[in-house]
Amino acid sequence: MEPVILVHGGAGAISDDAKAQELLAGVKGAAKTGYKVLTSGGGVVDAVEAAVRSMEDEEIFNAGLGSVLNLEGEVEMDASIMVGSDLSAGAVTVVKDIKNPISLARLVMDKTDHVLLAAEGAKKFAQLHKVVPLQPGALVTDASKKALAKWREKQVEASAELGTVGAVGIDSDGGLAAATSTGGRQGKLAGRSSDTCMIGSGTYADDNIGAVSTTGHGETIAKFCLAHSIIKAMERGQSAEEATQNCVELMTKRLNNTAGAITLSNRGEVGVAFSTNRMSWAYQKGDHLYFGIDKNERHIEKV
Ligand code: GLY
Ligand code: GLY
Repeated sequence: MEPVILVHGGAGAISDDAKAQELLAGVKGAAKTGYKVLTSGGGVVDAVEAAVRSMEDEEIFNAGLGSVLNLEGEVEMDASIMVGSDLSAGAVTVVKDIKNPISLARLVMDKTDHVLLAAEGAKKFAQLHKVVPLQPGALVTDASKKALAKWREKQVEASAELGTVGAVGIDSDGGLAAATSTGGRQGKLAGRSSDTCMIGSGTYADDNIGAVSTTGHGETIAKFCLAHSIIKAMERGQSAEEATQNCVELMTKRLNNTAGAITLSNRGEVGVAFSTNRMSWAYQKGDHLYFGIDKNERHIEKV
């Protein structure tokens, strides 16, 4: 089977075309980073982690550096990761001053028998595993401060332009993994957890069926268990594309809020769908990179 690494850089109301180009550059880079890990001896879980890390490190995405701010002006982040072979999973929620929350979620999966660690406990666990926290506030950017100030004035979710990030991957033996990371929703209450830390809502992977990472309005995605709804639809016989499109549409109709998702089936078929106006996505398969941000649009480039 041909390996694939598929990523998203968040679904949202992205109106600025210059920003759309930056997001596209970021997801293309992330897909290539993950694919390189996968094809140079790394496992599929290493590959999705590396792809998500690369987007956490870029200010343009709402994850890691550049995350949106809560009502108290702080960055609080969520992340989760899952391996399809044995359904092992790890997640963190409400973590502060951690450069790469996805790698902390990976440590929860690898080093504990828990699925989800929160806040101070997660930070203590990080230190135990030699993950040194950044200086308080190091992930807060000028752009995120300005966006919160604008939000306070108008209650406009400027962060709607920014997105959660995620990756799904399949290796040449059909092994699947999924990973998702977010700064959440701008102006959220301190202590709010999102769908992104919830296995079955933000992230899911099962080698028998497929792998999914979601983005969008977290409370809505959590109520609908969007990632697992897509998995279930594939189990009922829908293709990755049909299941992703149908479940995003169903959620949006039922709960009147928007989302996006990326999916790989256990045969390596790709599904990409969003009910926002845009979602940046990219995947590498062999020496081709496929990517897009607008509806019904797909570009192909040779790597
Ligand atoms: N508002 C967070 C996201 O794009 O998922
Ligand atoms: N989907 C990410 C969030 O709402 O926080």
